[in-house]
Amino acid sequence: MQVRTMFNKIHKRYDLLNRLMSAGRDIAWRKACCKRLPKKEKAIVLDLCGGTGDFSIAYKKNENPQLCIVGDFADKMLSVAAKKDPDLKLIQMDATQIPLANNSVDIILNGFGMRNISSLDLAFNEAFRVLKQGGYFATLEFFKPEKNISKLFYEKIAPLIIPFAGMMLSKRNAYRYLVLSILNFITPKEYAAKARAAGFTLRSINALDGGLAHIILLEKK
Ligand SMILES: C[S@@+](CC[C@H](N)C(=O)[O-])C[C@H]1O[C@@H](n2cnc3c(N)ncnc32)[C@H](O)[C@@H]1O
Repeated sequence: MQVRTMFNKIHKRYDLLNRLMSAGRDIAWRKACCKRLPKKEKAIVLDLCGGTGDFSIAYKKNENPQLCIVGDFADKMLSVAAKKDPDLKLIQMDATQIPLANNSVDIILNGFGMRNISSLDLAFNEAFRVLKQGGYFATLEFFKPEKNISKLFYEKIAPLIIPFAGMMLSKRNAYRYLVLSILNFITPKEYAAKARAAGFTLRSINALDGGLAHIILLEKK
């Protein structure tokens, strides 16, 4: 199944499943990621692969952006974001072909999105292109596990629990995909190397909850 079709199918239960499967930690992780971003007054923010808008909403809680654009190729995910906050600007877009001008965005947020993109290199090039000089790209993501605790969780525990929980509430295959996409993804260091190849400067890599998730902060210098 195509990634876009899959997210359109689970849009109604996506938020609930996020809360349940991360035991509510996804909220704390987005908040921690927003805190890591250097302050920018009246920023233009692009929430890339923004889905149901939770990252933009978390950002808006403590900052005063001029505009938050939620960009996603799954229209039904965006329709959920529209109901939550009418001030979000929703644009259906593919992260590998962002319909925004060069140097037009101050901050890019990406929560659990990059892992799903078919060409990471194209997405990095596009993110670099639309970001202004001095802008930041914050990624919150589940990377391929390296440490023992996260390896044990993603290789042994998650394949049993997550698709089952997904089946109870929604589409089992989508949550089987979630586990596989994490195990088949790259490590934080490999991700940073790809970002550097697109022109970004690495500011920091931070592990959350023993490496279950990571925040990677990049800058366009
Ligand atoms: C796991 S959800 C994350 C949603 C949201 N960022 C969050 O923090 O909950 C991944 C989102 O990425 C979107 N996505 C995946 N590949 C994409 C692409 N190439 N272009 C745009 N959106 C994409 C999916 O439609 C989905 O809404």
